[in-house]
Order: sequence, then structure tokens, then C-alpha cells
Amino acid sequence: MKTSPIGVFDSGYGGLTVLKELTKAMPEYDFLYLGDNARTPYGTRSFDVVYDYTLQAVKYLFRQGCPLVIIACNTASAKALRNIQMLDLPRIAPDNRVLGVIRPSVEKVSEITMNGHVGVLGTVGTVVSESYPIELEKWSQGRVKSTVQEACPMWVPLVENNEIENAGADYFVQKNINSIFTKDGTIDTLVLGCTHYPLLFDVIKKYVPKNVNILTQGAIVAEKLLDYLKRHPEMEKRLTKGKTLDYQTTESAATFESKAALFMGSEVNAKTVHL
Ligand code: DGL
Repeated sequence: MKTSPIGVFDSGYGGLTVLKELTKAMPEYDFLYLGDNARTPYGTRSFDVVYDYTLQAVKYLFRQGCPLVIIACNTASAKALRNIQMLDLPRIAPDNRVLGVIRPSVEKVSEITMNGHVGVLGTVGTVVSESYPIELEKWSQGRVKSTVQEACPMWVPLVENNEIENAGADYFVQKNINSIFTKDGTIDTLVLGCTHYPLLFDVIKKYVPKNVNILTQGAIVAEKLLDYLKRHPEMEKRLTKGKTLDYQTTESAATFESKAALFMGSEVNAKTVHL
């Protein structure tokens, strides 16, 4: 039977941290995960390139039958989502939807910060785009008083190259965490604003003061997506519920399978595709 899965897209493995929570929260749905591992990382690429790659991925997922695509990547959400929603969707697929990860995270931060001091860790692209400070200012209704950011350009390569348990990970994580707390020592909510970073969670936790809330995005995106589908029954009805989980990558399927299986905790069958 032809399925209409929820498409989940990231530049590489990071979006699996979102996929995992989505499949936990809504196990009955069909999912198609696409990792653009051949062109990862996106975090250091220009606006135009990230937009171009992300649009290619979205169009590809539409062609695979996904009526709804979650961009499980902050860099692509920051640099491409708005243009895709406003300029491309009305032209290429007006009834389909593309959602990102920044807006749900911003809503959650606004709900939980007590003192309004927020820290955001992200890729260079996400930090330079200023998406988090702008969106927090816009949507927090004055609850967020200060947002400091820290670009962590070494963290995605650490994850993509399976270095998370080695000394290099400790070195770079400690360096960036110290730096963000030097910018504001009163941060009470720290956003892991890159979907790769939860894979470094145990290392990050070692260097963050105990009273600070560390926000990972997977569960937040799942909660907000369920809410979105309640408010949009016309979209909910179009999604098939056959519990399938399809993995596709633009790089080697075998490499993807072994890394993704470690993370998802179950066997992964992937196929290599061209966008
Ligand atoms: N996982 C992505 C994010 O959330 C980006 C990683 C990258 O490709 O640089 O920003």
C-alpha cells in the first residue's frame, strides 16, 4: 500500500534525536527519515547553499509522498524554512506543510525559564542568523530578558565521526560551555539548538551547573507536533498509520545503518538516494 509518511529531514544523524522522540510519542504513524550525510555539515555553509540543499530535500520528500515535512535541523530551520514556507510552498505544493524546530523550542523556553536568562548553543549558521534571539524576543511575551549564544563548530563533526566518547569531545564541550557561562553566569535555561547535540548530552551535563535546565528538542518537537495535528485535522487525515520507519541517506547506506542503529537502539535498514 502506498504510504503518506511524515518526512523528517536533517543534514546528517542529528535529526534522529527528533525522530526517536516522534516515534515514541506517535508510534502509529509512518515516518521517512532523510539524512543528507553526503553534504553534512550545513552549519558552516552560506545561506544560499543551505536554502538550496534544504529545498531539494523537501521537494524530494514530497515526491516520496510526504504531505508533512519536519526540518529536524536548526541550521536549515534558521536559514531556509521561512523562504520555503512563504515562497516555495504556495508554488510547488500549496496543501503540503513544512515545519521546523526553532519555533517549538522558543515556545518551550518561554514556558520554563524562571529568571529570563537563556543560553543557546548552536552551529555557526544558527548563531549568526540570530534566529533564536529574534524569535525569543518576539514570542516570549517579555519573559525572556537576555539571550546569549555560543557557536560550537566542532560538535557536529564530533558526532558525525563517532568521537563522542573520546577526550576530544570533553575538550571542546568544556571550552564552549565555559565560554557561554562567561557571557552570562545567570543562565537558567540552556537550549541545545542543534539536533546533533543531544548525542553529546552526557558530556555536556558534566560541565553545566546543576541548577540549569538543559533543553533537548526531540520531545518538545513531538509535543508541539501532536498539538499541531489536533489543530489541523485536514493534515492529520492525510497521514497514514502503518508504523513504518523508512531511512534514506545521500551517503553510504551501510555506514548510516551501523551508526543509526546504535543511536535508535534497533536494527536500521537504509537506502542510498539522490536528491
Ligand atoms: N543538526 C543540525 C542542526 O540542528 C545541523 C548540523 C550541521 O549540519 O551543521 O543545526
